[in-house]
Amino acid sequence: MLFVLSSFLVNTLYTYLFDQKRVEVLTSANIIASTLSESFSEEYITKKIPQMSLEQNSRVIVVDTKSTVIYDSYLLTSLKGKTFINSSITTALMKNGKDSGNYYKEDGSWYIEAAVPIIKNSKPVGAVFLVLSGDSTEQVITHIRNSLLVLGLFIIIVVGIFSTTMASLVTRPVEKLTKFINNMPKDSLQKVEVTTKDEVGQLALAFNDLIDRLAELEDKRRAFVSDASHELKTPLSIIKLLSDSLIQTENPDPEFIKEFLSDMNNEVERLTRIIERLLNLTQMDSKQLNMQFVHTDMKEIMNEICKKLAPLASKKGILFSLNMIEDEVILPIERDSLVEAIYNIADNSIKYTEEGGEVVIELSRDLGNVFVSVADSGIGIPKDSVQKIFDRFYRVDKARARETGGTGLGLAIALDAVKLHGGYIEVNSEECVGSKFTIVLPYDEMKN
Ligand SMILES: Nc1ncnc2c1ncn2[C@@H]1O[C@H](COP(=O)(O)OP(=O)(O)OP(=O)(O)O)[C@@H](O)[C@H]1O
Ligand SMILES: [Mg+2]
Repeated sequence: MLFVLSSFLVNTLYTYLFDQKRVEVLTSANIIASTLSESFSEEYITKKIPQMSLEQNSRVIVVDTKSTVIYDSYLLTSLKGKTFINSSITTALMKNGKDSGNYYKEDGSWYIEAAVPIIKNSKPVGAVFLVLSGDSTEQVITHIRNSLLVLGLFIIIVVGIFSTTMASLVTRPVEKLTKFINNMPKDSLQKVEVTTKDEVGQLALAFNDLIDRLAELEDKRRAFVSDASHELKTPLSIIKLLSDSLIQTENPDPEFIKEFLSDMNNEVERLTRIIERLLNLTQMDSKQLNMQFVHTDMKEIMNEICKKLAPLASKKGILFSLNMIEDEVILPIERDSLVEAIYNIADNSIKYTEEGGEVVIELSRDLGNVFVSVADSGIGIPKDSVQKIFDRFYRVDKARARETGGTGLGLAIALDAVKLHGGYIEVNSEECVGSKFTIVLPYDEMKN
């Protein structure tokens, strides 16, 4: 850019200065011509021209109408008496003689020339030709060009140093961060040290935040694997214990064998249930990608669930009822997972309600949501446990859960399924009074 700008500037200067010089030369030639128009005698010319204050080194040639030189200010190479043919003079001597000025370069030197007709009685009687060396003008331009070159070089060096320094200042922290990430051991997550508040600092903070989240996920995954192994190991250990004692007992009586085998059977059932539920959870994780939502009548689903649960409730002597709004409630749902979610919650209510209690299931909606609530008059959940009941394998009372066959996965599965439908679950519970679980699903009457 500097180079283009400089050459443009120098070119403009050339045109401007030489044009100016040409006008000056033309003006001088005009002055001489008008002086000589008073008297065009050789004597007058030879006397008058040297008196005029002309620029040094300017050469004045006066010719008559035939281009014969009458006067030449250069005595050494005088053309006096000779015919001087020059295009500017020819133009000046034409019928309607015109002033003409020109500049050109010849043999490495610049010249500025002008020719003006000498008019006497409205007729050209000769012409004044003035030529001046343009070297001094060129010197000025050369000087400016050299200064521009030095300035340009200086700017290039300064800008070069400045931009290299700036670039390294900006890229060094990024390089440092990249190096840190690349060198991080494959089996551990480490945080980077944040030293600045600029964009790189922000990037480092975001990176550390990501590390935190990854670590949290990793912790959850570890806890899940360890909980799952523990949950699977317990029934297996019991089966092992029971079978060992059977083997070691000599001539066990049939009643004893039956009792042991029935216990072992229970544990196998429990194992199967845990594995089924774990599979259910992992399926739910992968389902997110290819879920099939079908418009389904929620009332039909509610009836189906209640039909399954009613025998369980009546077996425990629990008053079990279903209230539904009269309108149709059609929702796009993934049927299996949503049925499982509602079933798990209602099953809990029956499971955690003492004999003679009450469980009420309700289906309702407002303008933007569909609500499925399950209220019971059961044992309730302690306040500090309410947050945890949706965690995988969490049970308020492990010993009791063992009796009831609980795996602690039911609500985790329910929450996952409801989340897949864009909803959430609300819990209100008071110990020894009862609990109310409400599934809230988004509902858009226009769309559905
Ligand atoms: N309606 C309820 N009343 C009282 N406690 C409840 C109720 N629902 C859930 N809980 C508590 O929350 C815990 C977690 O429930 P969740 O359904 O996940 O597991 P679970 O019922 O123990 O086992 P699973 O459902 O797999 O058979 C239960 O163990 C229980 O302590
Ligand atoms: Mg449950």
